[in-house]
Amino acid sequence: MSSSFLLGLHFSHATLAASGLSYNGLSITPAMGWDTYNAYALDYNETTIQDNADRLVSLGFRDLGYRVVIFDDAMTEKNRSSNGSLVENSSKFPSGLKSLVDRSLHSQGLQFGVYSSAGRFTCGGYPGSLGYEPADASWWASLGADYLKYDNCYNEGNSGTPKLSEHRYAVMSNALNSTGRDITYSLCNWGDDKPWEWASTISNSARMSGDIQDYFDRPAASCPCGPDEYYCQLPGYGCSVFNILGKASHITSKNQPGYWNDLDMLEVGNGGMSYDEYKTHFSMWAAIKSPLIMGNKLYDLSPEDYGILTNPAVIALNQDPQGSAIQRHLVEQTDNKDRWGVGEVQLWSGSLFGGDQVVAFVNAANSSRTISYDLVEVFGGVSTNEQAQQAWNLYDVWGNETVIPAASAAMVLNGTVGIEAVNEGRWYYNASETSWADGLASNDTLLLGTPAGRVEAAGTLSAEVPSHGIAMWRLRSADKGNTKKKRDEL
Ligand code: GAL
Repeated sequence: MSSSFLLGLHFSHATLAASGLSYNGLSITPAMGWDTYNAYALDYNETTIQDNADRLVSLGFRDLGYRVVIFDDAMTEKNRSSNGSLVENSSKFPSGLKSLVDRSLHSQGLQFGVYSSAGRFTCGGYPGSLGYEPADASWWASLGADYLKYDNCYNEGNSGTPKLSEHRYAVMSNALNSTGRDITYSLCNWGDDKPWEWASTISNSARMSGDIQDYFDRPAASCPCGPDEYYCQLPGYGCSVFNILGKASHITSKNQPGYWNDLDMLEVGNGGMSYDEYKTHFSMWAAIKSPLIMGNKLYDLSPEDYGILTNPAVIALNQDPQGSAIQRHLVEQTDNKDRWGVGEVQLWSGSLFGGDQVVAFVNAANSSRTISYDLVEVFGGVSTNEQAQQAWNLYDVWGNETVIPAASAAMVLNGTVGIEAVNEGRWYYNASETSWADGLASNDTLLLGTPAGRVEAAGTLSAEVPSHGIAMWRLRSADKGNTKKKRDEL
């Protein structure tokens, strides 16, 4: 029996086991897609959807897995019809929702995401679905919905204890199941009543914080809890990447195939952060296994931001078949605090499918610094830890093998050449054709990252990390080749 056969067998068992954890068999890896809200607020229409959907396809995003297009709030008329049903907004969507969805989404291999609130109104003041769950779910299903983002506004006091929230959200979970259509169910209750403790048996993900803002670490009065408060009773909005990352660090172990903590949509491409800050944001959302939902204007992306969002080595961390989130092991204060008083360095690591590991050094300090940790620290501080006592090959997930250079990205963005053709498709990964697991098993450096040397057993990892930046590696056992050889000889 060849080793690749063994590997394949192993994967199908892992997949079967993983799908059993999902309450509806969906979202075995975190959802990926695009949403209107961060870049357009409630001001979007048929053209917005068409233009961005077309870019998802032509820029290669769809084939990296960014498939769901979420109409975030304001999709219907302001009032229900006299018989109580939701009414589509025909001035915003003159072709009709069904026809728009068929033409721009489903026929292009994209998915349709709808939005509502488990309350009387949505957050934007449109009709909410509390009390109308079966009727609304069957209307969405008739339009071809594949995903529901379900908010928490105007919940009329049906919150405040985990039971109250769970019961309210479970009604929609059952309604979606009754439609007979596969609809990924994504709670947006901002961490209220700790959904990570109860939502995995009724949904596929739940937001764990107030709304994100396009800032790295700027505090906002509207987001009153700090990054160290793992549970926040007033989640608010205007939360920075650093704030959400801190909150998420306490609950990463709650992720599992089929249920993910949602750190909110990506801001990459919206202009409020530096290149290094966006890299940190994207890398950590990916490795924590948050859903990766872009919230930008896809026809207005800079080449650098495009390079971040299409980095297959980072997306491979997010879509890893094992589905375990990276964990934070150390936070060290430095003297280089920025004007918000933030100056720490964070060490994260986690395990990936097939025995690989991921390690991240985050530098939130105000200046670039050399960061070094030995393998014992990297793997949680236990000196007998097996992982600390072996040699690893290092792959830099931000090296030049996986990040499309700005000049090539610019050509793709302006339509001069397709992503699958630029430099003979060197930066193009088509996950629709080759799964992440298969790509990883074939040692494709597009997925592993750029080879960056080796660290010996009990050795030290070291990198110069820019201010607000990140160093991140995939580690693959340096003995793996030997193990494979031995197995072949058997
Ligand atoms: C908020 C939600 C946002 C967005 C918005 C729409 O409550 O957290 O992500 O959906 O409502 O009005």
